[in-house]
Amino acid sequence: MPPGSPLGPSARRNVGQSNVDLLTVELGDRAYPIVIGAEVLDDLGRRMAGHLRTGSAAVITNPTVGGLYLARVESALRTADFDVTTVEIPDGEEHKSLESLARIYDRLLAARLERSSPIVALGGGVIGDLAGFAAATLLRGVPFVQVPTTLLAQVDSSVGGKTGVNHPAGKNLIGAFYQPRLVLIDIATLKTLPRRQLLAGLAEVIKYGAILDADLFALLERELAHVLALDDTLVRHLVRRCCELKAMVVQRDEFEADYRSILNFGHTLGHAIEGLTAYQRYLHGEAVAIGMAVAARVSCLKGHCNRETAERITRLLERAGLPTGIPRECPEPQLAAAIAGDKKVASGKVKFVCIEEVGRTRFEYLGAPELAALAVQ
Ligand code: NAD
Ligand code: GLY
Repeated sequence: MPPGSPLGPSARRNVGQSNVDLLTVELGDRAYPIVIGAEVLDDLGRRMAGHLRTGSAAVITNPTVGGLYLARVESALRTADFDVTTVEIPDGEEHKSLESLARIYDRLLAARLERSSPIVALGGGVIGDLAGFAAATLLRGVPFVQVPTTLLAQVDSSVGGKTGVNHPAGKNLIGAFYQPRLVLIDIATLKTLPRRQLLAGLAEVIKYGAILDADLFALLERELAHVLALDDTLVRHLVRRCCELKAMVVQRDEFEADYRSILNFGHTLGHAIEGLTAYQRYLHGEAVAIGMAVAARVSCLKGHCNRETAERITRLLERAGLPTGIPRECPEPQLAAAIAGDKKVASGKVKFVCIEEVGRTRFEYLGAPELAALAVQ
């Protein structure tokens, strides 16, 4: 590690020792590895062969990601004796749908995939959620491998086993918890990610710092410019740290009985804002950024944190180029109605994640009208 490295001493312990970082999500007989490194895509076949039976395999991707990385992935799999069928789904959240799922089933059944044949998701959270649900349900479950290529997917959605598709009645309404057998994260793929998508993913990294890790948050404050320049060592550290934190949460509460809801920080308001702006104006991470800034302010109004804590969170989001204010399209009554319609509302109350200080949270049960009134203050 050269002098003047962006990482502090605690980060230094964990990185730069080899060309990959290896974590394990400890879930008993469903434990699985997360492999993190730069330019590790070509190693996918060898890594899969170490965990899974070779033979037929499927890759699910979209034309954007496929155009960039599919040839390398197919070649890595064929070199390791996998016989590959690839299914391309059009790019976009609207294709995380039952129609796309039916297309995947049709193609993979025609290709005679077997119970031991893995499905590989090559793409962002849309492809990961869709391919994961296909893997959970095809032949009552085939092995699933995540190869996430967006920052959001690398730090959050590829780990933890939430899979599913959207329904005309709402987002992610059909799905299953289904853990992957391997997550392979090539941080070099972030170099082709559009900047707006990168920043939306960074909102989730900021979330992990805000709710669970004050050191991570302080690192982001100190080194934001290097993060945005995609400094390899720093990005690898951030991805690794977020995966460690996500693994810790999932190990403690895999099926979101209680503790896992901590990951919803910023999401209750974020989902409401996404819905009220017809999923057109904001990327998911951008809406979550607004939700986090407002949640921090609400925490302060409820007396759970001081004003400096709330301002620190808002300041970092703003410096990262993320939005933090509730848009005009979301006046209080509509906001209250949207919050009340959230699928996670129970007995009329939202389990709202409040900040106590950077790195520490508590749950507060709020009615939708009260939360909307606090949010617009
Ligand atoms: P996405 O999958 O739509 O990807 C964003 C865009 O980036 C797409 O156009 C994609 O084609 C493109 N892209 C992906 N990788 C690229 C690369 N390396 N280079 C260039 N372009 C690339 O969006 P996302 O933000 O990754 O995921 C959002 C989805 O994730 C939502 O459906 C959300 O519900 C889901 N999600 C799931 C979980 C979970 O725990 N399962 C958690 C958070 C979000
Ligand atoms: N992304 C939230 C969760 O996995 O629970």
